[in-house]
Amino acid sequence: MRNNSLVSIHDITKADYETILNLAEKFETNPKRKILEDFVVATLFFEPSTRTRLSFESAASRLGAKVIGFSDTTSTSVKKGESLKDTILMVSNYSDIIVMRHPKEGSARFASEVSPVPIINAGDGSNQHPTQCLLDLYSIRKTQKKLDNLHIAFIGDLKYGRTVHSLVIALTNYQTTFHLVSPIELKLPSSVKRYIKEKNLEYHQYTELEDVIPNVDILYMTRIQQERFADPLEYERVKNSYVLRNSMLENAKKNLRVLHPLPRVNEITEDVDDNPKAYYFDQARNGVFVRQALLATILGAKLGK
Ligand code: CP
Repeated sequence: MRNNSLVSIHDITKADYETILNLAEKFETNPKRKILEDFVVATLFFEPSTRTRLSFESAASRLGAKVIGFSDTTSTSVKKGESLKDTILMVSNYSDIIVMRHPKEGSARFASEVSPVPIINAGDGSNQHPTQCLLDLYSIRKTQKKLDNLHIAFIGDLKYGRTVHSLVIALTNYQTTFHLVSPIELKLPSSVKRYIKEKNLEYHQYTELEDVIPNVDILYMTRIQQERFADPLEYERVKNSYVLRNSMLENAKKNLRVLHPLPRVNEITEDVDDNPKAYYFDQARNGVFVRQALLATILGAKLGK
């Protein structure tokens, strides 16, 4: 990691993932460990969030850290025209680490280059969401008891979905077979597919969700990212492309689990929620343990006994 920042899933190795996932397991066993009492964690959210911000704040609080920050910019000096650089420099005076979400791709990298304290990227535009990626890996490993040799389907907005980009890249470190289901307009970008090709892994592209359900271990559903479309008519055309209903899981493998980074709009109907294969709410809960592990690791806090 550069300056101990986590900006992209490229900043860490497969060995790092596994260290963080193993530590997260310890936090899941006992989340209340006050090992960051002397630290201040800043959460700067220039874009809306429920899970990422609150799970980071919950993680920091459970570790005993103080939390400062903002969840929108309307009450900050960003409204008066303060630059990202100045905002980061100011907040670094008041905190030991900054968790930042921003709509612009590359903003987290820029912040890490000007910041004297570590930056954790909590999502930068359509680019990357590395901490979601780690909690997704944790959720896959927990439900499948392994990360290698899995068939993983990504469904929906593979073009703009930053969680998809980070997770596909991370999974190229394992013997993954990728099943990519999207409308033609929202295919996985070639810049991400390149990583699959470089590792000589198999990928298959589909336009129909039903074609993949019986053959995969993980269905990773995603929301069509309305906020990333320049043309509202294009969004209208694709917004209801995939809807997973409970009846569609009848022929799924026993070990299949449905993941979704959330929020969902209408891509998973509520009748799926009671199916034991639905794992998306547990997945979001896992975010607290993974983010505890990340904060503790980056800030150099030891678990002790
Ligand atoms: N998964 C995720 O990033 O959710 P939020 O947008 O609510 O943080």
